[in-house]
Amino acid sequence: MFNTDTINRFNDLDTPFYYYDLEVLRQTLTAARDASAKHGFHVHYAMKANFNPRVLDMIQSFGFGADCVSGNEVRAAIDRGFDKGKIVFAGVGKSDKEINLGLDTDIFCFNVESVQELNIIDGLAAAKGKKAKVAIRINPNVDAHTHHFITTGLDENKFGINIWQLPDVATALRQCKNLEFLGIHFHIGSQITDLEVYKNLCTRINEMQDWFEDHGFPVKVLNTGGGLGVDYYSPDGNIADFENYFQVFKNFLNVKPGQEVHFELGRALVAQSASLISRVLYVKNGLKKNFLVLDAGMTELMRPMLYQAYHQIENLSQNSKFKIQNPEPGNSQPAANIKYDVVGPICESTDCFQKDVEFPESFRGDLIAIRTAGAYGEVMASGYNLRDRVGSIYSE
Ligand code: LLP
Repeated sequence: MFNTDTINRFNDLDTPFYYYDLEVLRQTLTAARDASAKHGFHVHYAMKANFNPRVLDMIQSFGFGADCVSGNEVRAAIDRGFDKGKIVFAGVGKSDKEINLGLDTDIFCFNVESVQELNIIDGLAAAKGKKAKVAIRINPNVDAHTHHFITTGLDENKFGINIWQLPDVATALRQCKNLEFLGIHFHIGSQITDLEVYKNLCTRINEMQDWFEDHGFPVKVLNTGGGLGVDYYSPDGNIADFENYFQVFKNFLNVKPGQEVHFELGRALVAQSASLISRVLYVKNGLKKNFLVLDAGMTELMRPMLYQAYHQIENLSQNSKFKIQNPEPGNSQPAANIKYDVVGPICESTDCFQKDVEFPESFRGDLIAIRTAGAYGEVMASGYNLRDRVGSIYSE
């Protein structure tokens, strides 16, 4: 990702910023599109992962739909040229204003997360003399085996409708004359690297579609959600395994004639395409710890602080490729010189990207790359401490 020209370019710029390698993005999108097209699957990009306009433009140009979780995301998707007929709209707390926007723009489908929401959408659609297309988001109680902060498909999670509430859903669907039932929707969590989890999800989807069909509701759409994980330990040239991911659904989902299978991928499409580029402001050598204080912090990339997420850190100025603290077997550590806690400037002790990173001696001004930051990076930036909004630059 970083050749000498790129690093020279960084040297002339103010930090921090996100660097997007659009060729990596293109390769990832090509792999996802080809692997899904083989089975006739529909992919909606989960915009929450990254709504940088250049990123959206490229994703849109590949023909993917959009998975949105707010009215503003619906609007942004339409503004960036996504096909309205390929927009799905999820979220436990859609406001009336947001629902009206979805109705006015004739999106493909609302993924409905409660019985109450069904009634609200029905009422708002009635007021417009429209029919709202809906899929029922079911909480399948399938464990995604991922960090508990990004698990969504268990009984204790707020998302979706629990299985024991389905009779109420059936009643509401019969009563609501302004709803068109399209199908069922699931999303069990994020950064899922064990494909076995998706086999369990398929089993549950098959049961659920039988339930709806048995109760007189033909299921046209099976939306399996997203969640496919990426390898944060090998940032270069390691695109997510879309082939095997889609193959699991091909093999284990009971798809009937005329049914469509939909996906909502976020992270796997964008994570590898960006790095957060920062500079060392200060090197603090303490009695117990050495600190590299960067000019980027939790306000620019929150994942390490929020989910204890690992992101590989490289010192670009020392012109070395570091493989740091990699617990994967077979990854030998290079000669380590000094252990640093790599921290940000924010007034919070949790503002630490990684503890005990082994670097050759580092200096004020060194360029630091925090890798695999294309998903849930720039979009989760905040203005805490009245920080400047983080910028972005592109490989082309
Ligand atoms: N569909 C729904 C309904 C979702 O809630 C999400 C993500 C996705 C699809 C896309 O999931 P993905 O393919 O990106 O895993 N900020 C956290 C991740 C939160 C995921 C929220 N929902 C992180 O940085 O790990």
